[in-house]
Amino acid sequence: MKTSFTPGRIWNDLDGAPIQAHGGGVLYDHGAYYWFGENKASVTRQRGAVGFNVDAVGVSCYASADLYNWENKGLVLPAVKEPVEHELHTSRIIERPKVVYNALTRKFVMFMHLDTSDYRYARVGIAVSDTPAGAYEYLGSLAPYNSDSRDMTVFRDDDGKAYLLHASEWNATLYIGELSSDYSRTTERFTKNFPQGYREAPAVLKHEGKYYLLTSGCTGWDPNPAEYAVAENILGPWQAMGNPCVGPQSETTFNAQSTFVFPVAGRRGAYIAMFDMWVKEDLGASRYAWLPVQFRGDSLVIEWLDEWDLSFFRQ
Ligand code: GAL
Repeated sequence: MKTSFTPGRIWNDLDGAPIQAHGGGVLYDHGAYYWFGENKASVTRQRGAVGFNVDAVGVSCYASADLYNWENKGLVLPAVKEPVEHELHTSRIIERPKVVYNALTRKFVMFMHLDTSDYRYARVGIAVSDTPAGAYEYLGSLAPYNSDSRDMTVFRDDDGKAYLLHASEWNATLYIGELSSDYSRTTERFTKNFPQGYREAPAVLKHEGKYYLLTSGCTGWDPNPAEYAVAENILGPWQAMGNPCVGPQSETTFNAQSTFVFPVAGRRGAYIAMFDMWVKEDLGASRYAWLPVQFRGDSLVIEWLDEWDLSFFRQ
């Protein structure tokens, strides 16, 4: 059994197989954590200008009580073999799945970036389930505000309202919009943030009433400097604060890219930032770096640690 996080090293599930949950997110429900992510256990191909990608396999789910040891719950939203027109067809792209619980409908709602292999479809897919580990029923897709939507995340606030954050206008601008009370669509409350800023891979946390947003730049699978921003309101305005990473390789986010941040249950002020360490020639071999979020004075700091455990947060 694992008793620590070892960022950058192969992370095996309880069956001894490397975890396939890239671009993922974590949901906490009734004493258990559920890690959803892209299953990329498929052949990586280079498709001209589009670059490297894999045929969609589907969304994986892993469950854990301690965050170190994960049980494979399988594909909770598998890619579809036919018809070829299906939005989840294996020839397409399913990325960055995130799940939030809706107390009104009592459904677990999954949002994800859906695309064709040329990344021109750029929509948000939605699936629902009565239980956290699925199976999820695919409902269809949205083009929020009639715009394109690529890297995305969903943030559920303390009051039960949820927000979709997505890179739009060919990644130039990050849109943030409130979801309807049943989380089935976006509402008219939305803002355009960091215009022409080219920020993607959004991940949000809320700490002591303030919202913090981690993003990466837009260089495909290649790493670049992270940035974070702070706001009093999730819809903005956001104040850019610079690179949260410190120490060696902070200019490449430690060769990683943000995907999600979540609070550790029962530990005030404890948040884990999840990053992907992409191996673009063999995407299924990409690794993970989970690192603690640190608050130093007014700054949010991410520092590389070769090994750490939850006792870090008691310091
Ligand atoms: C990145 C993005 C990934 C994936 C990749 C494809 O910019 O963050 O999720 O879409 O591009 O090249």
